[in-house]
Amino acid sequence: MGKGFFISKAVGIAAIIVGAGALATIIALSVVYSQEKAKNNDNVLPTDGGTTSKPPVTTTAPSNEPWDKYRLPKSLVPDHYNVTLWPRLKQNLTTGLFIFTGQSTVEFVCAEETDLILIHSNKLNYTKRENNHLASLTSLGGVKAPSIKSSWLQQVTQYLVLQLDGKLMKDHRYHLHTDFTGELADDLGGFYRSEYMEDGVKKVVATTQMQPTDARKAFPCFDEPAMKAIFHITLIHDLGTVALSNGEEKESSNVNIEGHDVQKTVFQPTEKMSTYLLAFIVSDFSFINNTIDGVLIRIFARTPAIAAGQGDYALNKTGPILKFFEKYYNSSYPLPKSDQIALPDFNAGAMENWGLITYRETALLYDETFSSNSNKQRIATIIAHELAHMWFGNLVTLRWWNDLWLNEGFASYVEYLGAHEAEPEWNVKDLIVLSDVHRVFAVDALASSHPLSSKEEDIQKPAQISELFDAISYSKGASVLRMLSDFLTEKVFTMGLRTYLAEFAFGNAGYTDLWSHLQMAVDATGTDIPETVSNIMNTWVLQMGFPVVTVNTSTGIISQKHFLLDPDSEVTTPSIYKCVDGLSYFPPLRTINLCILFTIDEMKVSGSDWVLANINVVGYYRVNYDQGNWERLLGVLSTNHVAIPVINRAQLVDDAFNLARAKIISTVLALRTTKYLNKEREYMPWESAVGNLDFFYLMFDRSEVYGPMQDYLRNQVTPLFTHYKSLTDNWKNVPVGHMDQYNQVNAISLACRTGLRECQNLTNQWFNQWMETKLNPIHPNLRSTVYCNAIAAGGAKEWEFAWSQFKNASIAIEADKLRYALACTKQPWLLNRYLEYTLDPNMIRKQDATSTIVYIANNVIGQSLAWDFVRARWSYIFTQYGGGSFSFSNLVNGVTERFSTEYELQQLKQFKEDNAEVGFGSGTLAVDQSIERTIANIKWIAENKQNVLDWFKAEEKP
Ligand SMILES: *[C@@H]1O[C@H](CO)[C@@H](O)[C@H](O)[C@H]1NC(C)=O
Ligand SMILES: *[C@@H]1O[C@H](CO)[C@@H](O)[C@H](O)[C@H]1NC(C)=O
Ligand SMILES: *[C@@H]1O[C@H](CO)[C@@H](O)[C@H](O)[C@H]1NC(C)=O
Ligand SMILES: *[C@@H]1O[C@H](CO)[C@@H](O)[C@H](O)[C@H]1NC(C)=O
Ligand SMILES: [Zn+2]
Repeated sequence: MGKGFFISKAVGIAAIIVGAGALATIIALSVVYSQEKAKNNDNVLPTDGGTTSKPPVTTTAPSNEPWDKYRLPKSLVPDHYNVTLWPRLKQNLTTGLFIFTGQSTVEFVCAEETDLILIHSNKLNYTKRENNHLASLTSLGGVKAPSIKSSWLQQVTQYLVLQLDGKLMKDHRYHLHTDFTGELADDLGGFYRSEYMEDGVKKVVATTQMQPTDARKAFPCFDEPAMKAIFHITLIHDLGTVALSNGEEKESSNVNIEGHDVQKTVFQPTEKMSTYLLAFIVSDFSFINNTIDGVLIRIFARTPAIAAGQGDYALNKTGPILKFFEKYYNSSYPLPKSDQIALPDFNAGAMENWGLITYRETALLYDETFSSNSNKQRIATIIAHELAHMWFGNLVTLRWWNDLWLNEGFASYVEYLGAHEAEPEWNVKDLIVLSDVHRVFAVDALASSHPLSSKEEDIQKPAQISELFDAISYSKGASVLRMLSDFLTEKVFTMGLRTYLAEFAFGNAGYTDLWSHLQMAVDATGTDIPETVSNIMNTWVLQMGFPVVTVNTSTGIISQKHFLLDPDSEVTTPSIYKCVDGLSYFPPLRTINLCILFTIDEMKVSGSDWVLANINVVGYYRVNYDQGNWERLLGVLSTNHVAIPVINRAQLVDDAFNLARAKIISTVLALRTTKYLNKEREYMPWESAVGNLDFFYLMFDRSEVYGPMQDYLRNQVTPLFTHYKSLTDNWKNVPVGHMDQYNQVNAISLACRTGLRECQNLTNQWFNQWMETKLNPIHPNLRSTVYCNAIAAGGAKEWEFAWSQFKNASIAIEADKLRYALACTKQPWLLNRYLEYTLDPNMIRKQDATSTIVYIANNVIGQSLAWDFVRARWSYIFTQYGGGSFSFSNLVNGVTERFSTEYELQQLKQFKEDNAEVGFGSGTLAVDQSIERTIANIKWIAENKQNVLDWFKAEEKP
């Protein structure tokens, strides 16, 4: 069964309800989009870039000059750029800087007469050209270009501004020439440097991360996604190094420039593309390669990593995934080559630069002796995600960042389809429910959530753009697209998708264009849907949150409302769900009132019959039932849990815990969904339970509930632990199934966490054996949890050993496991020292700083230490790690997750006030979300502590 409702009664009725469920919910949400984000009143005064002539003097009134606006005027349209860049991989000992130099010529067409040129530029220093100006302008086709009257850098809005003494003429073409210098900093943005050690020698890589707004940090450009152009790239680099860019290498020659013998690599011009997808890399990496139907596939990484075969898995899987997407999109791969490169320093997980995808090492390199199955899955899904973007995002690009959710949501959905193609045994498609649907429910249930779609005018500044890279865009986007694909059927969905890609290839589109093409497919196939695709989807896209659908099996009434984790929270613009009366949407059901779906007598159930809604959690909503149906479902779980599909067992647990948090059902009812777990062997329900119990740990691990809770959970998990012990022949073998391997980790983690002596002895013994013999006996799947438990049980000796293993790890995947486990120690002084290390890039790479702090905060002992640390250093962290970096929201959410007292709430508010001036960048929303979450936690504890304590105690009575 695909979707909707499942009923334990006769098959005929079940079939009717199946059709009705998903559809009813999709259309019953009305379109109410009046979300007004707080308008930004902080208009910025013009800032003098100070390089040559000054801009016209402006008084204190907010300026309305074009260069004070964050969006480019529409007057100029780039055609192509010729860019030469020369990164210096050696530090200049006089200035202490690593730099790059460059020349660029951009040919643009004038679309509207203007005497002003605005082109993005950030942190670049220009060499003065004719008449002391920062650029020079020539014209094509015989006419003379106007001369430059004044030129300067507008720092706040990141422009190079040129005022002309005459107009550029409509439809004429011009060339703008610049020479510039930039810093090749270790700031993970724009053209930056990454360093690593190889055979005791420090090596430097020059690489790029342009998305969203850092191409302007590498060369002056019209840095908006709709300003597509062709790029002719040339890189100058040291002899013996490899230069890569989006295009194929056209020619490479040795030249002498300014007395330096260097190599000059010219690349084939790119296709017409957006600036944020450019990439330039100089390294001495090695590669392995393959050719699939004429497409060259290469995997680049540090030479020892390639030599150890760590790129092989990625190389083997890329071809099949690429082929899969060609079929799925019905469009051949648009480029002649596909390079993928693993970088030692990289902020995001990966970046879909067209033809040259960049990855964190852990997201691309696989090594059987070090990588867990979870690492392997991450690699397969991230490769699929990035390859999906080669069409969706790169070939067809969203017009502006406010539609980012469609780009990221789409790739986050189809990554599961691509990964399934690469690893058909894994059932990886099911996992979207845990990793995306459930994950984002947690965020989208807050009053401070936001709709998928933002208004274009609300997304202007780089920090506002960066803030969009959040769970809503990725995971809610993926969840609603999955629902849509399932609802329209994959056949209709891909049909619309294909014509969309064909129509907008090499151009830009908005999300409504995709809806139009899906509508065409619906019409062409005669698919019967109740309203237009656009009307249906607007409810999910334009308003925030999601509904909880209540199925009352005694009255037959189904109803829905906006699900808010804190029912008392104030929603400025509540999502309103309306009823649609009397429409004959579904052939089997003549008249349907969507508020009263179950008016037909047969749909009321009685006796032992039970109803289960949202089969396989295809719909983006939670489900609640009347008490009678809950009791019957609990009955099935305890007697014959396999009668309920495994995904829905995970859902019942997750829905129940969250409904309880929202005070819709009692917390005790939620806890009762965990009682059957002593018989459960499947991964998804366990993972769901562990995830929800984490909240109980966060709320109670500093209180008297902790002991009885530990006793209960230890009893529940012991059978699972024993099951794996025998399945693996006393921990000697690895379970066969992918999900079984995952659940083995849950068994050990929870058994050790709840203090099962046998488990603790096991992990300590493995770890000691490693310390003594220097041979690691621990299977990669189990390393994170075993390291963590052993370090938590141990002292300085264990910690120091793990630290030295971390520093010497030859593969990032192993280093990451240790970095996580080092945060598990119970020694405050070790945790404090570890916190200090996070801000020293020689100890912890910048890309890993925020996640390490969050790991420490997750530890009950580390919580307050991490919070004090972040509070004290906020402005330092903020400036060092860039206002545009993506992980501030994770940092803020991570260190405040356990907050549940008035005192902590006050501190949080104080923190917000104290740092208002410095700002929170991409963490701005997270600060408000944390305050909201803390308030909800305080209330929750007050209302639930006693009940929960009593329940756990009662469960322990024999
Ligand atoms: C270092 O920078 C200084 C100042 O810009 C410059 O004069 C010098 O030539 C540079 N040295 C090298 C080795 O490039
Ligand atoms: C860029 O380079 C190409 C190829 O060398 C050349 O045809 C084109 O005229 C150049 N364009 C500009 C703006 O210099
Ligand atoms: C650019 O100029 C500023 C101000 O003179 C200077 O501090 C900075 O180091 C320069 N950057 C580079 C890469 O030369
Ligand atoms: C891989 O690259 C090498 C060296 O560039 C080349 O000789 C070989 O033909 C390539 N192999 C494939 C399968 O493309
Ligand atoms: Zn993506």
